[in-house]
Amino acid sequence: MKSAYGRQTSAPDYELTCVEPGSPMGELMRRYWQPVCTSDELRDLPRKEKLLCEDIVVFRDKKGRVGALDPHCAHRGTSLEWGRVEEEGLRCCYHGWLYDTQGQCIDMPCETEEFRKAMDVWQPAYPVTEYGGLVFVYMGPPGTEPLFPRFDIIDLAWSPETVIVSDFYIHLPDLVSSIPISHEWFGKTSAELYRLLADKYLRVRPEIVAEIDAFDCTHMRGAEPIIAVHYRGTDKVVETDFMPSHEIYFDLIDRDAADWRIFLLTDEAQCIEGFLERYGSRVTFTNAIRSSSKIPVHLSRAADRVRLGADVLKDVHLALRCQKFIGLGMSNPSCIISVLKDWCEGDCILLGPSLLRANFTRN
Ligand code: FES
Repeated sequence: MKSAYGRQTSAPDYELTCVEPGSPMGELMRRYWQPVCTSDELRDLPRKEKLLCEDIVVFRDKKGRVGALDPHCAHRGTSLEWGRVEEEGLRCCYHGWLYDTQGQCIDMPCETEEFRKAMDVWQPAYPVTEYGGLVFVYMGPPGTEPLFPRFDIIDLAWSPETVIVSDFYIHLPDLVSSIPISHEWFGKTSAELYRLLADKYLRVRPEIVAEIDAFDCTHMRGAEPIIAVHYRGTDKVVETDFMPSHEIYFDLIDRDAADWRIFLLTDEAQCIEGFLERYGSRVTFTNAIRSSSKIPVHLSRAADRVRLGADVLKDVHLALRCQKFIGLGMSNPSCIISVLKDWCEGDCILLGPSLLRANFTRN
């Protein structure tokens, strides 16, 4: 053995490694929200934590509010680590002064209310925010705290809002592993998460729901089961390596849904003709705008954009009312149909590679 004792090591760089108050790195770190503990860790007792070389006592009052206070009680310096969590704050274990989550002393046993107000005692405190199952503290100068950064699916999972406007694409399967263990959505599959998000955020306009119900009532009610079939034509034919032919669909329908009625979703006029030729009156379809060329409907300048969106929503929701589904893995409507319903095993088939399994962050 060659002893490690006495070997040369470089001198510590205190400018980089020291984070005490007033040190260069300490001041830099104090301009950011810092995680101090998990939300789950704040229960019946306060917690003493060391953050950036400072001790702080973190607690959650019985009303659910979180505070971060200097540990030494403003009265006689007893550690608030041993305090009692109450409805309105944290009560010091020595003489019983009660501090709220902002640090204000709001109760002094054996003193009059007038005296307490006149004393106007404040325990030093830091701003706190909770996010993604973590508690964050801002230890910088008052009033300089930056907006808390918020990103992607985690925001949707924790957000109380029911309307979200997003300017970025969320490929949910890639983000599932980022859901914190403390969140109620942890451990759920991508399909379950899509359904939860749709329940929370997808509000189909009443007039479109009325169209869906009317079509369902007129064309889909009856004793025979219905298989929904999505054939995506036009530009998709050249866009993807795998484009199943009509015959592949026919074989599956004949195998899994012989004699069933067929609800056909497609953007291609020729597809309607092909299915009608083979299955006749078994086929039903909406009056969605369709293309007779390789130019997809969404690139047609003449097409009404709102109507195009309504057509897709209508087709997707009608497909969800069917008993089986065959679609194309590289198509967005097919993929969302495959996850928005908890299909029985074998009742939902996506042909070819699926967008839901593709990993866009690495491709
Ligand atoms: S030391 Fe805390 S109330 Fe007296």
